[in-house]
Amino acid sequence: MARLTDHVAIVTGAAQGLGRAFCVKLAGEGAHVVVADINLDGATATAREMGNDALAIQVDVSKEADTLKMAEATLARWGRIDILVNNAAIYQGLTRRPFEDIPPDEWDRVMAVNLKGPWLCARAVVPAMKKQRRGKIVNISSATFFSGSPRWAHYVASKGGVIGLTRVMAKEVGEYGICVNAIAPGFTLTDASRELIANAETYAVDRGAIRRAEQPEDLVGTLAFLASSESDFITGQTLVVDGGRQLH
Ligand code: NAI
Repeated sequence: MARLTDHVAIVTGAAQGLGRAFCVKLAGEGAHVVVADINLDGATATAREMGNDALAIQVDVSKEADTLKMAEATLARWGRIDILVNNAAIYQGLTRRPFEDIPPDEWDRVMAVNLKGPWLCARAVVPAMKKQRRGKIVNISSATFFSGSPRWAHYVASKGGVIGLTRVMAKEVGEYGICVNAIAPGFTLTDASRELIANAETYAVDRGAIRRAEQPEDLVGTLAFLASSESDFITGQTLVVDGGRQLH
């Protein structure tokens, strides 16, 4: 039997890349999926792949009103929220440069989407999860936090912030049966990462224990596990899924 039958899952940043792969996996495990993204056309395309049982919503995760509407629309459709995957981030198109050259406006936007966004989305869904006395929040961080990957200080700092947020939220909501964990992917082949790094297919292959490029499908099993009751006694943790490059 599917592990998430009749669970209701919201995935942010689900128009493409990892978010799309997470939606496909969660739907395959039996969940009803809310495909949330600032890019409505992309979200609609992802939702269409899942048939009638997915809801596409346009959300800017950095805007409180949007995150509240996302939670309301989910509750209006299915009456509960079991899973939140905080995956949306400014990643595609980010220019890598020394920290002293990052424009302050760009710093603010990256923090607003990548760090404030997961907080706002969690804040929007947690009242429903508290009432249910059950919920799973999975935040998508990045292994770049552990490697201190140079020339994108705002991105790496935001992803480190996501780990801090994961820990605090886990401590605060554990008593309501809500688990909060993070996944830190390694360099994973998506359209965004291919744009970011030349030779993406071979870029990190010789640096991990497992000598091949990471694919979105390498992450979906960990997500399904953290979203399911199989992980009910795991909270506040960050799982690095990168083929054994960062040994955390
Ligand atoms: P991506 O850039 O292709 O996808 C990000 C998605 O977030 C896009 O669909 C975009 O429209 C959406 N988005 C951006 N701003 C938004 C906003 N304000 N509100 C709502 N949605 C917004 O990135 P990819 O490769 O799919 O990565 C997904 C997640 O995984 C991101 O959090 C990224 O930081 C993280 N990650 C990715 C790695 C990789 O190598 N691909 C490695 C480590 C972490």
